[in-house]
Amino acid sequence: MIDTNFDVIKILSAGAKALGAGAIEESRWEIPTDHPDPIDLAVGMPVPEGIPIASLAKHFSKVLSSGNYIEMEYEYGRGKIDLRELLNDPSNGFTSLAQTPDNFILFNGGSGCMESFCATFLNPGDIVLVEGPSFSGTVETILKYQGKIIEVAMNPEGMSYQAIEEIVARCKRSGEIIKGIYTIDDFHNPTGVTMSENNRRMISRLALENGIMILEDSTYSGLFFENAPPLDMYSMNSGEGVLRMGTFSKTIATGLRLGWLQGSTEAIDAIGKTRSDMGNAPFIQTAVSRFIDSSEYSNHVQRMRGLYKSQCKALVTSLTQHCSKYLEFIEPKGGFFLWPKCIGVDSAALTKAAAEEGVIFPDGSLFYQDSALHDNHIRLAFSGNSPEKLGEVGLRLRKAFEKLLD
Ligand SMILES: Cc1ncc(COP(=O)(O)O)c(C=O)c1O
Repeated sequence: MIDTNFDVIKILSAGAKALGAGAIEESRWEIPTDHPDPIDLAVGMPVPEGIPIASLAKHFSKVLSSGNYIEMEYEYGRGKIDLRELLNDPSNGFTSLAQTPDNFILFNGGSGCMESFCATFLNPGDIVLVEGPSFSGTVETILKYQGKIIEVAMNPEGMSYQAIEEIVARCKRSGEIIKGIYTIDDFHNPTGVTMSENNRRMISRLALENGIMILEDSTYSGLFFENAPPLDMYSMNSGEGVLRMGTFSKTIATGLRLGWLQGSTEAIDAIGKTRSDMGNAPFIQTAVSRFIDSSEYSNHVQRMRGLYKSQCKALVTSLTQHCSKYLEFIEPKGGFFLWPKCIGVDSAALTKAAAEEGVIFPDGSLFYQDSALHDNHIRLAFSGNSPEKLGEVGLRLRKAFEKLLD
């Protein structure tokens, strides 16, 4: 081996350092447990039994055995036209504003969409407003591109309009540039809150008037339990000044790595210019198109809505029965998450005590960039476990609370 003084740390980018590259620290997401049968509520993923493996296998197999080599080659552009046509058709449920397939571009999941948004619109120091709390996986991309994050408090209506108005006025005075507002307006991760229609209208108008792009993350929009959420901001603004992000990760499977942006032709053209990943896997796009076209997709999503509703109910019932003294929460109407506030016990301490009792979940502080904003919540993802398993959570958690309060 050649002996060198090569120092990787010395050459790290500011963006990499902002995400912790080069620093040795334990992941706060990984909570060890010796419990023989832990219930994992940490990650928001589809329940394995719900993944439509047999249907997908059929469509993948047909695509791969077609002998059509184009399915295995680079797809440099916006993504396969078949899939973009399906996304553009409101009857499939991915948009409520039909435009043209060229108003869509496909990326490596919602995460890829966030990368492309930052690459196209952010200069170092530009401000992006995000909900506090929010999903750190996408928010941290802003830090990687050296954007400045301002967290906006949430209330039962969603992101606080008043707080946004104040920040916009302050930045106008100081000359700081707000480039974007990132919002998960339907069945928010982690709080489960859905932004009210009125709040959507006010925020989307304010953003449009001030030249601020809204990145509307609709990851959970299709996964409502009974009623569809209010109209999206993209449609409210007739497609101007908003980019709407979708993904198949939660409705089908995270491993597909397939998401999309809908935007004005100008915005999608600009985003297409900054693309340098050589496109998404064409055979995956074609197989997913056929899955949607066969109507198996709409049956599948319908089934998943019912499944997640029953999973959420099982968790809520179990917590209400055993932990009503210790936890306060609002029942979500869709999505994957419950966001209880802990009473009389520190939420971080609870995550450790609960792990000993065999329930794994993250402390709410992980969903803030400024953890001082955190107000003693935990996030419980009910998406990945059966109602039977979720029915055991309350009793296990009660034991953890009792241990801590002893
Ligand atoms: C709100 C939200 N947006 C985006 C993503 C990223 O999803 P993907 O990149 O798998 O599409 C997630 C994943 O948990 C999420 O919760």
